[in-house]
Amino acid sequence: MTEVTMTVNGRKVRRDVPDETLLSEFLRESLRLTGTHVGCDTTQCGACVVHVNGAAVKSCSALAVALDGAEVTTIEGLAPNGELHPMQKAFNDNHGLQCGFCTPGMIMTSVDMVEKAKAAGKTLTEAEIRHGLEGNICRCTGYHNIVKAVAQAAQEM
Ligand code: FES
Ligand code: FES
Repeated sequence: MTEVTMTVNGRKVRRDVPDETLLSEFLRESLRLTGTHVGCDTTQCGACVVHVNGAAVKSCSALAVALDGAEVTTIEGLAPNGELHPMQKAFNDNHGLQCGFCTPGMIMTSVDMVEKAKAAGKTLTEAEIRHGLEGNICRCTGYHNIVKAVAQAAQEM
């Protein structure tokens, strides 16, 4: 067991975990933050994406012990006061989800994509949004409304 300390959604947490614990397991099982979903555990689906030190990361691909001291934001941290983040609102407005399994990862990936584009002074094209979502799989929506949602949020963020 190794002691891991992180700041998760603005709150400092400390837990003893086995060395092989994935960040996704740490979030879901140690912290009970079950908004981060696990669809494959093999870095394919993107359902587990969270932000680590400000960048989107597939949490099934990272060991918790390697992230000692990191700042992590999960889907729960996007709406800390119950008011939807513009990306969450845009997914709702555009029917960018059906079963919702992929949605936390889609949203965390999309927020990172839009923030990076804004920092670079760029307006995302539809092709760039689709490219940015290549690591996120949705079995329900056909992606069109997800792309529309990201484009709307990019205007509002
Ligand atoms: S659970 Fe992490 S990419 Fe699928
Ligand atoms: S909404 Fe069902 S997997 Fe995307």
